[in-house]
Amino acid sequence: MSLLTPKIFPSLPDISQLSTEHAVLETEDLNVFYQGRPVLENISLRIPKRRITALIGPSGCGKSTLLRCFNRMNDLNDDCRMEGAVRLLGQDIYRPEQDVVALRRQVGMVFQRPNPFPKSVYDNVVYGLRLLGINDRRLLDEAAERALRAAALWHEVKDRLKENAFRLSNGQQQRLTIARAIAIEPEVLLLDEPTSALDPITTLTIEELMSSLKNQFTLVLVTHNMQQAARVSDYTAFLHQGRLVEYTATDRLFTSPAQRKTEEYITGRLR
Ligand SMILES: Nc1ncnc2c1ncn2[C@@H]1O[C@H](COP(=O)(O)OP(=O)(O)O)[C@@H](O)[C@H]1O
Ligand SMILES: [Mg+2]
Repeated sequence: MSLLTPKIFPSLPDISQLSTEHAVLETEDLNVFYQGRPVLENISLRIPKRRITALIGPSGCGKSTLLRCFNRMNDLNDDCRMEGAVRLLGQDIYRPEQDVVALRRQVGMVFQRPNPFPKSVYDNVVYGLRLLGINDRRLLDEAAERALRAAALWHEVKDRLKENAFRLSNGQQQRLTIARAIAIEPEVLLLDEPTSALDPITTLTIEELMSSLKNQFTLVLVTHNMQQAARVSDYTAFLHQGRLVEYTATDRLFTSPAQRKTEEYITGRLR
């Protein structure tokens, strides 16, 4: 091996060898159609526990659609039809008896634009807990502090808990929506381009935050920013025109991709 060969193939386990028991989420032969048109074809993948998995690929390749399959957000769209299986901790989440509210409690979601509720910082963070019927002030206070600390926001807002969330900066609002999502301790956090509306410095704050969260949660991150995927994720899945082209350890995908399409994409020759 030449000295110039980058250090690759880190100690992360080969994702193709990940057993069903170690997968938090799993899709099997997943097909999704919008008005009969296929937008995801035969996607089979396993998302490892307490890691960050990035979904990358050109705009329109199906990243958001795939992410929404993980908490049944596509159910809200009558034009959308799905075939195949999606499992959370081994259970098919599309089985008839699945409680969708309970599912979304386990699989939280953060969107591109920060979307705090028009309430105080505190009321935003404890929103989900109150929906769960928790009203004990001490429990709520503790949970709020824990979630805000985990979201790297506590020091900035601990004296502003009663202020309206809209008065926070954009980056603070995005961390607040992350705090709100993790306050109810989901199994998985889905993030759909969570930094694309933010400036570069704020983006780094959120990236550091994501890295710290993987000690507690499984993260699935959609990003069109390849540098971001390379910086924060452990595994990367590259999608192109609704198909899963390559899914492997992030270092490997970016330094020695197995597929020519992946190489074309990461070198900017594929749109
Ligand atoms: N609600 C919808 N109705 C019909 N087509 C949609 C809808 N949402 C997305 N699509 C189409 O599905 C494909 C995948 O979209 P999407 O998952 O949003 O891609 P990405 O997130 O990778 O940009 C695109 O062709 C898009 O136009
Ligand atoms: Mg998208």
